[in-house]
Amino acid sequence: MSTAKIPVDEMTESQAIDELARLAAEIAEHDRRYHGEDAPTITDAEYDALRRRNLAVEQRFPALVREDSSSRRVGAPISEKFEKVRHKVPMLSLDNAFSDEDVIDFVARIRRYLKLDADAPIAMTAEPKIDGLSLSLRYEGRRLVSAATRGDGQVGENVTANARVVSDIPNVLAGDPPDILEVRGEVYMTHRDFLALNERQEAEGKQTYVNPRNTAAGSLRQLDSSITAARPLKFFAYAWGEVSRMPADTQMGMVEALKVFGFATNPLMRLCRTADELLEQYHSIEAERGSLSYDIDGVVYKVDDLALQQRLGFISRSPRWAIAHKFPAEQATTILKGIDIQVGRTGALTPVARLEPVTVGGVVVTNATLHNAEEIERLGVKIGDTVTVQRAGDVIPQILNYVPERRPADATDFVFPETCPCHLETPVIREGTAAGGEGVVRRCSGEFACPFQRIEHLRLFVSRRAFDIEGLGEKQIEFFFHDPDLPVRSPADIFTLAARDRQNMKKLKDKDGWGATSAQNLFDAIEARRTIPLDRMVYGLGIRHVGERTATTLARAYGSWADFHDAALAVAEGDVHAREEMDALDDIGDAVIDAVAAYFAEEHNRALVERLAEEVNVEDAERPITDSPVAGQTIVFTGALERMSRDEAKAMAERLGAKVAGSVSRKTDLVVAGPGAGSKLKKAAEFDIEVIDEDAWFERIGKE
Ligand code: IVH
Repeated sequence: MSTAKIPVDEMTESQAIDELARLAAEIAEHDRRYHGEDAPTITDAEYDALRRRNLAVEQRFPALVREDSSSRRVGAPISEKFEKVRHKVPMLSLDNAFSDEDVIDFVARIRRYLKLDADAPIAMTAEPKIDGLSLSLRYEGRRLVSAATRGDGQVGENVTANARVVSDIPNVLAGDPPDILEVRGEVYMTHRDFLALNERQEAEGKQTYVNPRNTAAGSLRQLDSSITAARPLKFFAYAWGEVSRMPADTQMGMVEALKVFGFATNPLMRLCRTADELLEQYHSIEAERGSLSYDIDGVVYKVDDLALQQRLGFISRSPRWAIAHKFPAEQATTILKGIDIQVGRTGALTPVARLEPVTVGGVVVTNATLHNAEEIERLGVKIGDTVTVQRAGDVIPQILNYVPERRPADATDFVFPETCPCHLETPVIREGTAAGGEGVVRRCSGEFACPFQRIEHLRLFVSRRAFDIEGLGEKQIEFFFHDPDLPVRSPADIFTLAARDRQNMKKLKDKDGWGATSAQNLFDAIEARRTIPLDRMVYGLGIRHVGERTATTLARAYGSWADFHDAALAVAEGDVHAREEMDALDDIGDAVIDAVAAYFAEEHNRALVERLAEEVNVEDAERPITDSPVAGQTIVFTGALERMSRDEAKAMAERLGAKVAGSVSRKTDLVVAGPGAGSKLKKAAEFDIEVIDEDAWFERIGKE
């Protein structure tokens, strides 16, 4: 019998030896497929599950940890092969719409934001969403000077040599292009070229590819550009980055200009004026999908007028002025082999379905989320059932239902465990709802003592939006977490690594996967992050409900680490005044305040934060524009605004370096009131705060 199915806690030592050997080989094979060939055969979730199982076996049998275990190895990050390029203008992603209602909401949201009438037409483009990979091409004085993949949106890979051999990408522009022009679009491969390439690969005994998208990615990321040249890649231009002189003032006009400069643009792009017209174009593109020679996975809508795009701006990583309307997900049926419990960063226990591998929408699926015990009950599934699985883009596969006719006689019920699968065997608690009833989330009560929570927490700590330490990603965190010589169990441990290494007999540079240069580079990168902006520090703490935006709001409001820390401790102690102050901040309500209070009320957390604060220097929060007349002020907008929406007013004030609060307090500097303002005006009078109307506001910020 294969050891793959034996539960870790029932394993004998000899079975563990076999299982660790099997996992080492399997994980190494998947690493090779992923990093070396851009052709993964399993989902990320399944890959993570393999590594987690490996860790679980190692935790039970620490003496059996292999030299080549994935927990010791620092896998080759994909980007190591190419030079990195920082994008001058970030490459953003798109928000998704999955239904007609989502599209109607999107258009309504834009109208509201721009303060347009509910039926005012807004010109928008609709075009296919190409299922390839995005590329940014930089032209200076007509000539292609560099090409970069999207990467994480900020930093991509330099693939200039390969872009030059793609026949759809001009090396020299035609027409009258601006001196500096960054053209963005999608590299893709047609079905025919994909099939022909796979046939050739097979004939030569080489690895075949899963789908055209992966093939295009693999082809563009060849170190030898003659290989890229032999693979027929294509390119559609649909967007831009830095442009020294805009050739048009609409989306459509820009795409037409790109065409004149020599790019292929998508012929199915249309100009629409209402949500209905967008949906009409969506259905017409969907109907043509099967006869297109390339893969598309939806339709992208964009506000046509670039001045309006500018006003609409962005929400975190995606523009408010565009959305991708995805085609419905593909489905398949397979067998539910079992249900595992995963423990997340916050200790939440999530049941995960283990499935008989099945191809859904071109990807082999072996896991699906089941969310919580109630979902399992709602679906009525038993282990052994045949289930319908759905995949939608990058979304984790889901189970839709089971097929009653195919339920085997020996199908078994799943029983939700009462203790956490972490070695502590801590009781699982069910979180209450705001209404006082029992919630659906079950959590391990072990908090930071629970190894699952601790490692997830460290992952968040080093993630790109938190401390973002170069060379210290998830893999390395896992390595140090389990390393007996240089353990990292808490954020502060990261900052003592170099000092501890100096004292150790066994040095990091001598360990598997490391060398003198990589160890030194890591220590340097850690040192470079010892000084950290306040918002990143707050986000990195991993307080529940405190995401990147909330962390920024808190950082801007409190300004310094000392002030934030004092306020958080006060809130944890139940200080009413501190709570009111936090509550006055825009977008911050009870859920966040309760989470901050709970975090700082827990002594392990307080100790962790204190140790960390001793290791790092936290920079005071940035105020975007310091010389604007309202910079640093706390402003409250109230009453009906006529020239802008509340959201637009807020974004405008924040851009000028002001804080926007939801209610008037002693800390308020200015109240901008429209007609119908009530209690806030009274409060402003009480505190003797300046009140101005909307026109005076525009005058003050110099927009009159
Ligand atoms: S516009 C600021 N248009 O979809 C928005 N993106 O989820 C820039 N994509 O990374 C993107 N077809 O790789 C845009 N017609 C299209 C697209 C498209 C495919 C991809 C692109 C982007 C992703 C966003």
